[in-house]
Amino acid sequence: MAVRALIAGNWKMNTSLAEARSLAAGIAAQPSAAADLLLCPPAPWLQSVASEIGATGVMLGGQDCHPTSAGAHTGDISAEMLAEIGCSHVIVGHSERRTDHWESDAQVQAKADAALRAGLVAVICVGESEAERDAGRDLAVVGGQLAGSIPAAANANNTVIAYEPVWAIGTGRTPTVQDVAAMHDHMRTVIADKISDAAHVKLLYGGSVTPANAAELLAVANVNGALVGGASLQVEDFLAIAAAV
Ligand code: 13P
Repeated sequence: MAVRALIAGNWKMNTSLAEARSLAAGIAAQPSAAADLLLCPPAPWLQSVASEIGATGVMLGGQDCHPTSAGAHTGDISAEMLAEIGCSHVIVGHSERRTDHWESDAQVQAKADAALRAGLVAVICVGESEAERDAGRDLAVVGGQLAGSIPAAANANNTVIAYEPVWAIGTGRTPTVQDVAAMHDHMRTVIADKISDAAHVKLLYGGSVTPANAAELLAVANVNGALVGGASLQVEDFLAIAAAV
């Protein structure tokens, strides 16, 4: 069973508008043949990035959405708004949001549900802390996050799962390929409880992915792509990761 790879760039709260435009234009000029590419810029830059991407096939995503479609929620953005300006995906439950904004699995599930309702693909993030890994609880923690965060309507067409160990994000450290393999095998098994076509769901790895380690991480069974932070801010690095598929 072949699952087409997805290489997603999470720009987080980085780039000026000029940098965002040039990054998007540089990536859109050389779309990958081997993988689908997804760019998730800061929300104020979405429309500008959309116009740089044009009809190249590079996809656009938000970094978060509110569970409801409209209303009195100052500062929030709905999934419907993201869809209307051309997003196909939205990241939900990134560990930085789980930490900075105290998002629970239930809230992440509600956001993922909102994404599906708006016709977006939800990129649901999970991952253990270093303390949880050291205590041997990594598989259990991630299993619990998956059970709590995946909405009932999830399927392989509307849901992507990203495994991002918290201790590997922005640190230059990554799990061993054996550890990534064990986690991704575990995730494939766990999601089958909630998703009937679980075998086709894209499972991404994220956390200090670089051009130097991408090939070995992307070669792991059940790794169907990457969610890239820092290295997604350089055209050459992001495209090199895509070329490593
Ligand atoms: P880094 O690639 O910078 O470690 O970030 C990973 C990440 O959090 C992507 O969502």
